[in-house]
Amino acid sequence: FLEVKDLYRNKEEYAGKTVKVAGWIRTSRMSKNFGFIELNDGSFFKNMQIVLDEKLDNFKEIGKLPISSSILVEGELVLTEGSKQPVEIHATNIVVEGESDSSYPLQKKRHTMEYLRTIAHLRPRSNTFSAVFRVRSLAAYAIHKFFQDRNFVYAHSPIITGSDCEGAGEMFRITTLDLENPPKTEDGKIDYSQDFFGKEANLTVSGQLNAEIMALAFRNVYTFGPTFRAENSYTGRHASEFWMIEPEIVFADLEDNMELAEDMIKYVINYVMENAPEEMQFFNNFIDKGLLERLNNVVNSDFIRITYTKAVELLIESGHKFEYPVEWGCDLQTEHERYLTEEIYKAPVFVTDYPKDIKAFYMRMNEDGKTVRAMDLLVPGVGEIVGGSQREEREDVLLARMEEMGLNKEDYWWYLELRKYGTATHSGFGLGFERIIMYMTGMSNIRDVIPFPRTPKNAEF
Ligand code: 4AD
Ligand code: MG
Repeated sequence: FLEVKDLYRNKEEYAGKTVKVAGWIRTSRMSKNFGFIELNDGSFFKNMQIVLDEKLDNFKEIGKLPISSSILVEGELVLTEGSKQPVEIHATNIVVEGESDSSYPLQKKRHTMEYLRTIAHLRPRSNTFSAVFRVRSLAAYAIHKFFQDRNFVYAHSPIITGSDCEGAGEMFRITTLDLENPPKTEDGKIDYSQDFFGKEANLTVSGQLNAEIMALAFRNVYTFGPTFRAENSYTGRHASEFWMIEPEIVFADLEDNMELAEDMIKYVINYVMENAPEEMQFFNNFIDKGLLERLNNVVNSDFIRITYTKAVELLIESGHKFEYPVEWGCDLQTEHERYLTEEIYKAPVFVTDYPKDIKAFYMRMNEDGKTVRAMDLLVPGVGEIVGGSQREEREDVLLARMEEMGLNKEDYWWYLELRKYGTATHSGFGLGFERIIMYMTGMSNIRDVIPFPRTPKNAEF
C-alpha cells in the first residue's frame, strides 16, 4: 500500500496511475449512485478523498459502513486542481477489512478535551491529537538532530536512582519490601539496607548529576528521557511523568548555556514548522489564532535576558495586584512569570541569578554570596520551559553549600570527586519536552500533549 502523504507530495508522478491505499473512514457522504469517503491512513494529517459509484459490486455495502471502519482501496489517482483537496482516488475495488461498530464515539462533532482524555485509546484518531502527536514525534527527532549535528553524546541516565537531584523530595519510592511488615532498624525506622538495592531507591527526578559525570569525560552531552515527580499539583503544566532534555556542556558558562538553549529552541520550532506545515496550520486555525506569526517572531528575534533582581523590580513597579505579592527572595509564581512574558515583554525571557535559597545545591555561587548563576526561560502562555545553571565547580564552595543545606556529603561522594579530579567550568539545563510542545502547538493542558498522561489519580491506559 502507498502512503497518502506520498500521494499528496508526489501527486504529478502518480496522476493517472492505479494506486492502492489502506486506512480508516473518517466521513462518508453517499447518494444513490455515487459517494465520497474521506479516508485517513495515518501517514498524513490530510485525508484522501475516495470517489465511488455503483459500478463497484459492493457499492451498497461500502455505503453503509460506519465511521472508523478500515478498508483497502484500489483505484486511479486523479488530480483535482481548484477543489478543496488536490487529489482524489476513483475507486475500482474496495475491500472491507474491519467493519466498525456504529457506537464509535468520535463522530464528526466537536468534543471537549476533557471528554477526549477519557478515551485516550481513541483520541489519536482525531485531528487535534493526530497533529499533536505527529509534532511531538518530529520535535523529538529535531532535538536529537540538533545535538548530534553538534557532536554531543547522547548519554543515558538511569531511571532508577539512589539520589535526589533537585533536593525537593518529590520522588516516587521504589521498594520490594513488604510495607505491611517491613524490616526495622534498631531505632524503629524501615531498614532499607534489606531492600532490593540495599538502599533507598526512587524514580529519577532529573538526569543532571549523571549528565555531569558524562560531560566531564565527553565535554558536551545530552540526555532525553522520562522523568518522574510526585508533586501533588493539579495544574495544566505539571505531569507526574514527563520527558526532559538535559544538555551539559563543559568549559562553558551561563552565557554559553543560554545561547545553547536559545539556539536549540529556535531550531526545534523551525524544524517542526518546516516538516509539519499542515499540522501547524491546523493549530493556527483551530487551537491558537496567531500562533504561526508568534512563532515566526520568536525564531527571528533575540530572547530577552534579565536578572531576577531586575524582574522583581519590574513586577513591583508595574503596580499590578498579584495574588502572591512580589518581594526580593520570593520564588516567582506562575502569575509573575506570565506577567513578565505576556504583559511586559511579549516574548521569551531568560531570568538569571536567582537567590540561592530558592534554588538547588549544585548551582554556582555568585560573588555577592546571595545569588546563584541560575537561569529559567519563561515563555508566553506556558511560563517556565527551561531551568538551568552554571554548576558549582569549586569543591570547597560546593561542600560548604551542601553543609548549609543539610545534605549528607557521603551520599554525593562521587559527585564531589568530579570536583577533585580535573574540575572544570560547566553548565547545563533541563527543557521540559511537554512544555515546548505546548508552546509550539498552543495546546493549553499538559494532559493533551502526551499520549497517556500520568497525573495524580490518573494512571488509566
Ligand atoms: O527546573 P527543573 O526542576 O530543573 C531540573 O530538574 C534541573 N536538574 C535541570 C538541569 O539543569 N539539568 O526542571 C526542568 C524543566 C522545567 O523547566 C520544566 O520545563 C520541566 O522540566 N518540568 C516539568 N514538566 C512537566 N511536569 C512537571 N511536573 C515538571 N517539572 C519540571
Ligand atoms: Mg525549575
